[in-house]
Amino acid sequence: MRLQGKTALVTGAASGFGRGIAETFAREGARVAIVDLNAEGAREVAAAIGGAAIALTCDVSKAEDVNRAVEDTRAAFGGLDIVVNNAGWTNPNRPLMETDEATFRKIYDINVLSIFHMVKAMVPHWRAEGGGVMINIGSTAGIRPRPGLTWYNSSKGAVNLMSRSLAAELAPDNIRVNCIAPVMGATALLEQFMGVPDTPENRAKFVATIPLGRMSTPRDIANAALYLASDEADFITGVVLEVDGGRTI
Ligand SMILES: NC(=O)c1ccc[n+]([C@@H]2O[C@H](COP(=O)([O-])OP(=O)(O)OC[C@H]3O[C@@H](n4cnc5c(N)ncnc54)[C@H](O)[C@@H]3O)[C@@H](O)[C@H]2O)c1
Repeated sequence: MRLQGKTALVTGAASGFGRGIAETFAREGARVAIVDLNAEGAREVAAAIGGAAIALTCDVSKAEDVNRAVEDTRAAFGGLDIVVNNAGWTNPNRPLMETDEATFRKIYDINVLSIFHMVKAMVPHWRAEGGGVMINIGSTAGIRPRPGLTWYNSSKGAVNLMSRSLAAELAPDNIRVNCIAPVMGATALLEQFMGVPDTPENRAKFVATIPLGRMSTPRDIANAALYLASDEADFITGVVLEVDGGRTI
């Protein structure tokens, strides 16, 4: 049990990668807060995990929601060691001139501002308590961008770089910050990323761009998050770990 006795909060954990991360953390001994805008989905995931999990409804783009989720988790678990900023959103793949300002702001509010709110909520606690672990879900989109997703790609570029900058600034406080950059995976967001219907033919075109010949899975991302969250990685900070089957080579 690699996270025995630890407490964790995973945003966007009602589905996709976040669900996989929460389930893996619980299997490895952590108590986990399932935090999502989708209240029903969060409750389902927490119920499936069982006694080690709680479900909290939260819009990660709102400071008051993030503060409440953090305080409710700390109250339920008596502390909070690990935070995974995983909740994310994209507009459908389309030419960049067709995205309006409201959509741009929504992408940045959910993908980027959310991490600002979480840092503000968690760092004072971790400073007072001698350290903590943050993992942000960035993307290969922020390293090797595909056309049609410019505003999403740039938001993930911000997540990737913000993670490294946070790591540099927070290392003296023993706060480790790392980032995972997944390649395309078959979650609820897939069709938005592809911008075409989710058919075997269309998937094959994207898979052809991934040297190891498949998309990422929640298990791939969860295994990387497990390592970075565990004490095995206690000298690892500021990495952007590509979990991408070689896409960014
Ligand atoms: N699927 C991919 O191909 C891929 C590739 C690289 C990175 N990512 C990133 O992985 C992360 C997880 O996405 P996923 O692919 O599992 O998709 P998903 O849609 O299955 O999961 C995203 C979750 O975030 C939640 N969410 C959305 N807006 C929220 C908000 N404002 N507040 C709280 N929760 C909110 C959703 O309800 C959902 O449960 C995202 O950050 C995404 O950008 C995905």
